[in-house]
Amino acid sequence: MFVVTTSHKPTRQLTFEARKLADTYNLPFVSRRRLGDFKRSHRVEGVYVLEKNGRLVLHVRGERLFFHPSAAKIRYLNIKKGLVDYLIKALEPEGNEIVFDATFGLGSEALLMAAFLKEGKVIGTEASVHIYRIVSYGLKHYRDEEEWVNEAMKRVEVIHADFREYLSKVPDGFFDVVYCDPMFKNPRFESSSMNPLRPVAVYDSVDTDDLEEFLRVARKKVIIKSHMEDDLLDRLGIRKVMGSSRSGVIYGVVRKE
Ligand SMILES: C[S@@+](CC[C@H](N)C(=O)[O-])C[C@H]1O[C@@H](n2cnc3c(N)ncnc32)[C@H](O)[C@@H]1O
Repeated sequence: MFVVTTSHKPTRQLTFEARKLADTYNLPFVSRRRLGDFKRSHRVEGVYVLEKNGRLVLHVRGERLFFHPSAAKIRYLNIKKGLVDYLIKALEPEGNEIVFDATFGLGSEALLMAAFLKEGKVIGTEASVHIYRIVSYGLKHYRDEEEWVNEAMKRVEVIHADFREYLSKVPDGFFDVVYCDPMFKNPRFESSSMNPLRPVAVYDSVDTDDLEEFLRVARKKVIIKSHMEDDLLDRLGIRKVMGSSRSGVIYGVVRKE
C-alpha cells in the first residue's frame, strides 16, 4: 500500500495539508511519529511525504520522486547559449502551437517545449497515478527563481490517463504536434534522471497503430523520442531522424503534409 505522511516535526498546517492530500488520493494518512511502527505491521510499498518546504516527495523502492525543472533549465540555458536541442529543432515552434505530450513523465520536456510556446500550450497524459500525483502537485505548487519557468508551467497541463483512451475522444487534427517519449525497456538507454520514475512508471511500447492515432490528431507532425541502439523508430517505419550521436538520443519526425 501507499501512504501519506509529513516530514519530521510538522506544523499543524503541514499535517492539515497532508491529511487533505491523503483524502484526495484516497490513501491512509500516517503521522510521521507512527510511520516506523506502521511499516512494521503493514506492507508499505511507497510513502508520499509532504515536506516543510512544500515539496511532495514519493519514496518508493529506494528512489525519491519529486517535481523539479532542473533538466528543462539546463536544456533551456544551452539553447540560449546557441547549442542545438534536437527536440526543439524537431518541434520548430512558431509559438502558438498546442502540443500533445502523450507520455508526460516528470514533464521536463513539456516544460522545455512550453518555454518556446508563448501563445500556445502543452497538454499531456500520464498513465501512472503516482507520477501524475507528484507532477500535478509540483505544477500547482512549485515556484522557481527563474520567471520563465513559472510562466512556462502555466502553459502546461497534465491529465491522468492512458494516451490511447484519452485520444479516442479527441477529434482529428485537434493538436498541432504530438510528442511521445515512451520508457525504454532497456534502462541502459535511459538517462539517470529517469531513475526515480522507474519503479512506478508504465512501460508501454508504441506501435504502428499508435503512430496512426498520433497522426490522426496531429495537424502538423508527430515526434517520437528513441535511442540510436533501440529499434523503435525502425519498427514504426520512421526515417526522418535527428539527434546527437554523443548522447544517442534521437527524435523521429513524421510530417502531416
Ligand atoms: C520516459 S518517460 C517521459 C519523460 C518525459 N519526456 C519528461 O521529460 O519527463 C515516459 C512516461 O510515459 C508514461 N507512460 C507510459 N505509457 C503510457 C501511456 N500509454 N499513456 C500515458 N503515459 C504513459 C510512463 O509512466 C512514464 O512516466
